Amino acid sequence: MADRYLRFTATAPGRALTRRLGLPRPATLRRWTVEHPSLTGSLVHLTAGESPLALAPVLARTGLPAGDGTAADSPAAVVLDACGVRDVDSLASVHAALHPVVRSVATSGRIVVLGAPLDAGDHHQAAAQQALEGFVRSLGKEIGGGRTVNLVRLTDAEVAWSTLDFLLSPRSAYVSGQVIEVGAAAEGLPWVAGDRPLAGRTALVTGGARGIGEAVAETLARDGATVVVLDVPQAEADARRVAERLGGRALTLDITAADAGERIAAELPDGLDVLIHNAGITRDRRLANMPAERWSSVLDVNLASVLRTTDALLAKGTLRRGGRIVATASIAGLAGNAGQTNYGASKAGIAGLVRALAPRAAAEHWVTVNAVAPGFIETRMTAAVPLFIREAGRRMNSLAQGGLPVDVAETTAWLAHPASGAVNGQVVRVCGQSLLGA
Ligand SMILES: NC(=O)c1ccc[n+]([C@@H]2O[C@H](COP(=O)([O-])OP(=O)(O)OC[C@H]3O[C@@H](n4cnc5c(N)ncnc54)[C@H](O)[C@@H]3O)[C@@H](O)[C@H]2O)c1
Repeated sequence: MADRYLRFTATAPGRALTRRLGLPRPATLRRWTVEHPSLTGSLVHLTAGESPLALAPVLARTGLPAGDGTAADSPAAVVLDACGVRDVDSLASVHAALHPVVRSVATSGRIVVLGAPLDAGDHHQAAAQQALEGFVRSLGKEIGGGRTVNLVRLTDAEVAWSTLDFLLSPRSAYVSGQVIEVGAAAEGLPWVAGDRPLAGRTALVTGGARGIGEAVAETLARDGATVVVLDVPQAEADARRVAERLGGRALTLDITAADAGERIAAELPDGLDVLIHNAGITRDRRLANMPAERWSSVLDVNLASVLRTTDALLAKGTLRRGGRIVATASIAGLAGNAGQTNYGASKAGIAGLVRALAPRAAAEHWVTVNAVAPGFIETRMTAAVPLFIREAGRRMNSLAQGGLPVDVAETTAWLAHPASGAVNGQVVRVCGQSLLGA
């Protein structure tokens, strides 16, 4: 499972050889640690066009000192507010703002561009704002050095705080080339700022006994949640081990059981705040060779059970007001993958579910519904992939390496954050800007 190439390229001879041969040069990414929870370096705030956003106080809350963007400063983060860009001519100010600083951004640094929602009544504004997507995605592919580039569309800086804080931190190390929409002010519940935003909340993680689910349970527990680790009865020992370590509890049941939602509700009479649909399986075969059982088992675990349990837990009121649902899609569901018609269909279905349910769940239950779409993540699932396909999966993204389960977990924790109520109906890829898919 270890990425030996990444380790080799971190050595001096490895660096020299890969540079000479023109091979991919992945940077060792800076991830969140207790000792280093923030980026180190300054934050440069730039503006293109006249923006209505009151951004400065929100950026100040990241704790990063304001920088001037000179080469000597080597900023850890650059935020370009391009909400005021309304036509093609004013796009020149995007170039003018970033051109002088782009070379000085520190390794593993962040560039976040802020845009306005597309104005359907003004095709010049829509053209200029859509242009920012192509700009951000192209810059993400060329910048290198573990730096990420993302676009946030917003109308209110204050409600986008948790999103900006995430993107401007080491927690978003493997999120690049994304376009995230933050809505207007959402219904919210009071919460306490600080290191444990989920304190007093209960989170249930399906498939939490290992892999990505285990990392999600760990990260939500770090943020203060009481976690319920759900997995199949065969994984009971692992589920208990994870739950005990995190001070939570295990719940063994097969999520495809017709009454899974009712059983979860019965186990959680006091309710649930965060529901993470992570359990998933693959049963790969080309369609011509795929028996019906392989098709139906994947659709059942990855999609039908997500719909059933979501419906049951919302209908019973188990998911409390201010709740969060995060489902797990995959880039295979967005881009398609040979041998995975069943898996691709199930994961694309997750995106459909999220987009359709999100507005209704917010209006009727005060619950947000989002998805994470992992790319190549280093887990047992991907360790079993044949060597050459595995190497291609690892390198074919802007960061030239696979992600870690914790990268998906950190993205999930941001979506589960009590301050993320205005982030709804989003499918966020955690893929290092994979070359596969949109
Ligand atoms: N690893 C990757 O690169 C990758 C990429 C894209 C998407 N994903 C998705 O991320 C999620 C987690 O992937 P992973 O790599 O950690 O997988 P994994 O196989 O390591 O873990 C999946 C967990 O889900 C549990 N599970 C399976 N069926 C279940 C059921 N019917 N009821 C309850 N629990 C069940 C398993 O027992 C296991 O503990 C899956 O939805 C997967 O499709 C993973």
